[in-house]
Amino acid sequence: MCGIVGYIGRKQAYPILIEGLKRLEYRGYDSAGVALMPAKNIINVYKSAGKVKQLEAAVAGCDVAGCAGIAHTRWATHGEPNKENSHPHCSMGGRLALVHNGIIENYAVLKEKLTAEGYAFASDTDTEVLVQLIDYIQKKGNYNLVTAVQLALKEVVGAYAIAVMDRENPEMIVAARKSSPLVIGLADDGLYLASDATPIIEHTNRMVYPDDEEVAALYKDGSYRIMNLENVECCHEAQTVALNIGQLQKGGFPHFMIKEIYDQPECLADCMRGRVMADMNRIVISAVNNYKDVLMRAKRFIIVACGTSWHAGLIGKQLIESFCRIPVEVEYASEFRYRNPVVGKDDVVIAISQSGETADTLAAIELARERGAFIYGICNVVGSSIARATDTGSYIHVGPEIGVASTKAFTGQVTVLAMFALALAQVQGKISGEQMKETIEELVSVPDKIREVLKQDDYINNMAKVFTYAHNFIYLGRGYAFPVALEGALKLKEISYIHAEGYPAAEMKHGPIALIDMNMPVVVIATKSPLYEKVVSNIQEIKARGGKILAVITEGDTVIKEMADYSIEVPETMECLESLVTSVPLQLLAYHIAANKGLDVDKPRNLAKSVTVE
Ligand code: M6R
Repeated sequence: MCGIVGYIGRKQAYPILIEGLKRLEYRGYDSAGVALMPAKNIINVYKSAGKVKQLEAAVAGCDVAGCAGIAHTRWATHGEPNKENSHPHCSMGGRLALVHNGIIENYAVLKEKLTAEGYAFASDTDTEVLVQLIDYIQKKGNYNLVTAVQLALKEVVGAYAIAVMDRENPEMIVAARKSSPLVIGLADDGLYLASDATPIIEHTNRMVYPDDEEVAALYKDGSYRIMNLENVECCHEAQTVALNIGQLQKGGFPHFMIKEIYDQPECLADCMRGRVMADMNRIVISAVNNYKDVLMRAKRFIIVACGTSWHAGLIGKQLIESFCRIPVEVEYASEFRYRNPVVGKDDVVIAISQSGETADTLAAIELARERGAFIYGICNVVGSSIARATDTGSYIHVGPEIGVASTKAFTGQVTVLAMFALALAQVQGKISGEQMKETIEELVSVPDKIREVLKQDDYINNMAKVFTYAHNFIYLGRGYAFPVALEGALKLKEISYIHAEGYPAAEMKHGPIALIDMNMPVVVIATKSPLYEKVVSNIQEIKARGGKILAVITEGDTVIKEMADYSIEVPETMECLESLVTSVPLQLLAYHIAANKGLDVDKPRNLAKSVTVE
């Protein structure tokens, strides 16, 4: 969490930094701050609790000149989200200013040592300890900033992406990273740095991605050097990043979340482009082709992920098991990493992550790799830490997802998992040509089916009005629909702050049915599937106890339509792909309830898009 951005060059830094912070706000929005270096011996620092807008208001009328600057948007870890704990943090005396994304785990020991050396601290943060440590080392050894940063980082345990300025050297910004993302943008007017490419892309598409424990010195004349902590020069080729600026804007929608829900038909078409062959007979996933021997040798797949990506993993399990007949386990990455799991060289671990930066998922990958497993990544953010930490993988290619609540990434992940399962079944020879053709035809029809669902947005909004002030919700589904129920409940709770739980419908009678009364809305995914009749019985059990039924049904189903209080019809879809269609009305329902409550849908309280802390 937290976003950092920096600029040094010929342009004024402040507008670049403020716009950059707005792009990075999805990473955290507890506070924001900026430091500008207009000339030697001057660093002006401005900070504010709250969002970037509040920072802008606080800075109005202040001196914001300077062609070098760094800025930060915070998701609080150490210390409450107030102005004092906002970044940039300065060294005692104000020579250095620093922004940081990550956690300095041994900050308490370092702080004690620095306090004994006479350092006083103005905040409760681990970051302030780091800037004071750099200052201490720099002064003690009379080192330049690069050397001081290298020496300080050798003492640090934890994760960091940092940018530091020294007012005695206004020609340079120093940046470094370990386990937190950092990208450097190369432009004709100067150099940019950020937590990801989104604040940089409107200035340049040429980017360099430093590796862990590397330090970059960015100079005002546009030159730069990257070294490791031992000061050995590191060479990284600049990459051309393809990112469409329109994807970073709301495009007329009131929130990113609703835009991203509406983007899904095109996103899924992009995700399938070049992979689903025009003759409808083949799926080509290059990673599956390139590593087919490893994948076919696997005795087991283990999917590791968090949150929504974990829900996609539950659907992936059913897809892979049913098409490839290989056992699949789905693990919360946060549990997997700490429970001494049985994993080894016969396993393929599939790590799913939209951001590609989730700390728990990254740690699970490292553990599995140490034990000899082959790692396959499914990520959205190109060049992200998880994408680079895996042996191979597939991008979901749905474009930047800005709303904190994941929508198009979920359907993109399920689409990739479906293509992965089909491609692997194909190389295994476990799927007939006919079944392949039929499933592919269904897959390519999904974007149009989602378009049909989106036409019911007004109806779903009206339904949402009835339930806006409910205190609890239950979501039910069976088979492929169970993870959809979990995902629907997660969407609702994270953006509307309404308590919601997802259950397999048949589990109701083992406890949760005790919660049912006239005040309990129950969302049931009740489409035509082999378990349809059983779900009908589950609905009757709820009705008998006064619960309100909101059913997602197959178009033309009059039976459940008559039983339910509200029903949303979705086009009939092959069961294994149905989650791609049924998840969309649940995204819309959650969105409208939160929007009706006037909540900040894209930036729900206490959350951040990219969870880079454990
Ligand atoms: O970037 P990741 O997919 O690794 O993120 C995992 C979760 O943090 C994420 O899905 C989270 O649950 C979302 N806010 C859900 O909408």
